[in-house]
Amino acid sequence: MAKENKAVITLFGAAGDLAQRKLYPSLFKLYQKGYIGDHFALLGTSRRQKSDEEFQEMVAKSISSIKETEKDQAKNFVKHFFFQPHDVTKPEHYVALKERIEELGKKFGTDDNRLFYMSMAPQFFGTIALNLKKQGLLSDDGYNRLVIEKPFGRDFESAKKLNDELSETFNENQIFRIDHYLGKEMIQNIEALRFGNTIIESLWNNRYIDNIQVTLSEKLGVEERAGYYDNSGALRDMMQNHIMQVVAQLAMEQPVSFTDSDVRVEKIKALRSLRVYTPSEAASNFVRGQYDAGQDTNAYRHEDGVDPQSNTETFVAAKLLFDNYRWSGVPFYVRTGKKLADKFTRIDVVFKKPLIDIFANPRMKSEQSLKSNVLTIFVEPDAGFSLRVNAKSAGQGFNTEPVDLKFMQDDSTKAESPEPYERLFHDALEGNHTNFASWSEIAYAWKFVDVARKLWDIEEPQFPNYVPGSMGPVAADELLERDGRQWVYRLNK
Ligand SMILES: NC(=O)c1ccc[n+]([C@@H]2O[C@H](COP(=O)([O-])OP(=O)(O)OC[C@H]3O[C@@H](n4cnc5c(N)ncnc54)[C@H](OP(=O)(O)O)[C@@H]3O)[C@@H](O)[C@H]2O)c1
Repeated sequence: MAKENKAVITLFGAAGDLAQRKLYPSLFKLYQKGYIGDHFALLGTSRRQKSDEEFQEMVAKSISSIKETEKDQAKNFVKHFFFQPHDVTKPEHYVALKERIEELGKKFGTDDNRLFYMSMAPQFFGTIALNLKKQGLLSDDGYNRLVIEKPFGRDFESAKKLNDELSETFNENQIFRIDHYLGKEMIQNIEALRFGNTIIESLWNNRYIDNIQVTLSEKLGVEERAGYYDNSGALRDMMQNHIMQVVAQLAMEQPVSFTDSDVRVEKIKALRSLRVYTPSEAASNFVRGQYDAGQDTNAYRHEDGVDPQSNTETFVAAKLLFDNYRWSGVPFYVRTGKKLADKFTRIDVVFKKPLIDIFANPRMKSEQSLKSNVLTIFVEPDAGFSLRVNAKSAGQGFNTEPVDLKFMQDDSTKAESPEPYERLFHDALEGNHTNFASWSEIAYAWKFVDVARKLWDIEEPQFPNYVPGSMGPVAADELLERDGRQWVYRLNK
């Protein structure tokens, strides 16, 4: 049976896009499953004036795509929502907020547990945290937790400043930094695959693995996020957080137990051994791109809200090297970009070929050589994995061909699978940090990408350099080709 969590959730940015599209629907799922119930209340805040009733209507609208049979449940659910007009920059506004949090805590019997969720522009995170402490909004009896949205800084310096500000009020165990990739089913499955299977974990090292590839490919351009994106770019928006978190899970050692503290220790250790490049090494191990015009589509520089001279990258690829016993000599190639061939995320683990290919003996008249075994983890939209192995081709003679051993989740399993925000909200209510990024992980990730960022800020790129519908600039292919390798996923040329 589901354990009911008790808390007053104070949501900053309650009228925002994220809250309406993701947070309220996720909370409703938790409510339906019994993870929250009679003893929870959500106090929404933003500057605009709203009555409790108007706010409840807004929440009801955000979960309106529910079945007829769920309508009564939705009516009861929205009765837990309240609104407080509040400007986070005005210290005096925290007085009324405090009173309402206390009142709701008593009314709903929440054991005085308080979860503060910052779903607004990052420049306000430090101010809010400071005021929560100064104006006495923290609970003395229950827990105090802070959930914080990305981006966490623009570089190591700004991230450190933000972390220092948050640390004035909250300790590391109270901070839950959202990286919604960590809420994805197949990203969580990396640990199950690795540490639940002898045949996989025993080969998970530089003796058997040739290279690992991570691809987060988007088909869309910047759409309505142009203003934000042009100030950020693929390196900050996707690589520093999502890709680095995925890589840390692939590279880490086996934790002592599957608890948040043990998993964190290993992820941090892995990222500590990631080689931070010198500027000249970064120049040859990072690739940036920006999309050109396509058939009926604008070049990035001509998108609404984008500076026509913009040097912001919409694509990034990189080669990562870990200086540790397990991974020495095994490159991790990563790439992400907009306006690529398709929308998908996958991880390809390429194993070394057998040292001797006995079938290549000319007397056997083999027409094909052995292919590398590849374990592919399909993260989205398909969820599953496949293992490519060599087998004898049926028929006369002796030829080998690669065949895939495949497991894919069916549509009903995928439909029942919780959305990342549902999982992460639940984890935060439970106080489980496993799927949140710790400060040390974020710091190492920034230090790694900052070298490329600084280099790119002073060197003029040759943009645009890839066409929509491709897999990025040619240089991203060359990054592997110069090592005698290829991307496993590539378009037929
Ligand atoms: N949207 C997404 O899909 C998405 C995805 C990943 C991460 N994120 C992150 O999630 C956070 C929220 O994004 P969003 O898209 O929901 O933003 P948004 O739509 O711009 O909403 C921002 C909210 O902040 C409120 N606000 C602004 N200034 C305020 C102030 N001084 N005091 C109090 N409230 C104020 C706004 O309401 P008022 O104008 O009424 O004050 C609004 O409710 C950001 O950190 C973003 O990077 C968003």
